[in-house]
Amino acid sequence: MGEWWQDGVIYQVYPRSFADSDGDGVGDLAGILARLDHLTALGVDALWLSPIQPSPMADFGYDVSDYCGVDPLFGTLADLDRLVAACHARGLRLVLDLVPNHSSDRHPWFLDSRRGRDSPRRDWYLWRDPAPDGGLPNNWLSHFGGPAWTLDPGSGQYYLHSFLPQQPDLNWRNPAVVAAMHDILRFWLDRGVDGFRVDVIWLLIKDALFRDNPPDPDAPADARPFARQLALHTADQPETHAAIAGLRRVLDVYPERMMVGEIYLPVDRLVRYYGGNAAAPGLDECHLPFNFQLLLCAWDADVIAAVIRDYEAALPPGAWPNWVLGNHDRPRVASRVGAMQARVAAMLLLTLRGTPTLYYGDELGLEDVAVPPERAQDPAGLREPGRGLGRDAVRTPMPWDASAGAGFTAGEPWLPLNPDHATRNVAGQDADPHSMLALHRRLLALRRATPALVQGAIGDVAAEDGVLRYSRSHAGGRVEVLLNFTATGRSVAVGAGTILAATAGRDGSVAGSVRLSAHEGLVVAL
Ligand code: GLC
Repeated sequence: MGEWWQDGVIYQVYPRSFADSDGDGVGDLAGILARLDHLTALGVDALWLSPIQPSPMADFGYDVSDYCGVDPLFGTLADLDRLVAACHARGLRLVLDLVPNHSSDRHPWFLDSRRGRDSPRRDWYLWRDPAPDGGLPNNWLSHFGGPAWTLDPGSGQYYLHSFLPQQPDLNWRNPAVVAAMHDILRFWLDRGVDGFRVDVIWLLIKDALFRDNPPDPDAPADARPFARQLALHTADQPETHAAIAGLRRVLDVYPERMMVGEIYLPVDRLVRYYGGNAAAPGLDECHLPFNFQLLLCAWDADVIAAVIRDYEAALPPGAWPNWVLGNHDRPRVASRVGAMQARVAAMLLLTLRGTPTLYYGDELGLEDVAVPPERAQDPAGLREPGRGLGRDAVRTPMPWDASAGAGFTAGEPWLPLNPDHATRNVAGQDADPHSMLALHRRLLALRRATPALVQGAIGDVAAEDGVLRYSRSHAGGRVEVLLNFTATGRSVAVGAGTILAATAGRDGSVAGSVRLSAHEGLVVAL
């Protein structure tokens, strides 16, 4: 038995889109509370909520104006306490989103900071004079398009925002900011929250000299300007590790808490966020630095075999792996790989070594929903239209049943429902043993009952002719996973054993070889 965040499965809820209890078309905490049965029946272990703190919602909660509250749209602090208690009563953990890189421009800290150059909180954010020619302080760009600097006419200085102008970056080199953030962690930990998913944790610190980012020589000429720069001075700065270790020290005072960091970096740099270095080894940073490779790599057996081997080889001693198949920022897995391969993808996610994170709706095979331009909401898409950057398609309401509001809302949903919600919904799939939901429940139950799938070593990772295979073994138990990434049948060699799970719902035994149908995955106990 490992820690809960090692043995367990994390389920991400985008609170606006999970369940609306009051008919305003936006999901809320009372809605989530009323739907905990779904999570228990599914068989996940922890719930991660995207931000629920008070926010002007310029980036739907990733612009926090009060780190120690709950936005009225979602409920009250008492609702949050109730949700924590209800989760714990069911053996579920609750993980909150922490957004420490930037606040809202309406946060009292920023209002104070922008009052003038002499404000005591001036240095809580990153202010710079204009360049000698009166222009931008340097060439840094916002992830959401345009310069990362906005001029404040009052003081004649620019402030830095890695995202929207409404999301000014905090100055993590200022000890007062660090201390304030540590207090915020304690505020939630004292309320019984089990941990944090920390937003853009690899961006916390910026170059002290504010040097220009160099162009990326490998970027395609038609890439968006942001992607044509290397984030040499705006991401993954060496000092970030000490800042994260500081957060970790706060968590470690409390038993059984965990921190998972949002980090988009190549594996060799990603794994450094477990902590330690050659001089001082130790796992003193993120318990789990999110591993997003399955979101980003080509859906191909050879590619994924290499991804698994390279990741396993890169992990520092004692570091626990993790895998993510979907989140609120990236296209849904069913749209990326197709409905049939999405079943294979679920089997992959839930049988790899390490903590899986499952995105709400993916257990139904929910696809990206075409949101008409007049209903578009996401600022990332609205600021750079025509580049497909909008994330609305992956944030549509959870379809619970075949009713008009899909059981999500009695009002008008803030984003359109999936057009197939009358057939693709929890109630419908609940009754169908062949459904995507039933497959997820079977795989999660199998995982829970099979120590080799949770604690077991992974070995024999190989791809041949479009079939990915690997073994998981623990204390004499050995399981073989066979995944057909192709649209045609494949015969593969396998020892004598019993089928524990199948994407296409078969059982029985195998010996010597087995014929996988198109898009079929099997878990076999040898
Ligand atoms: C992270 C979040 C994303 C948000 C951004 C700015 O990438 O996942 O949704 O827009 O940070 O906070």
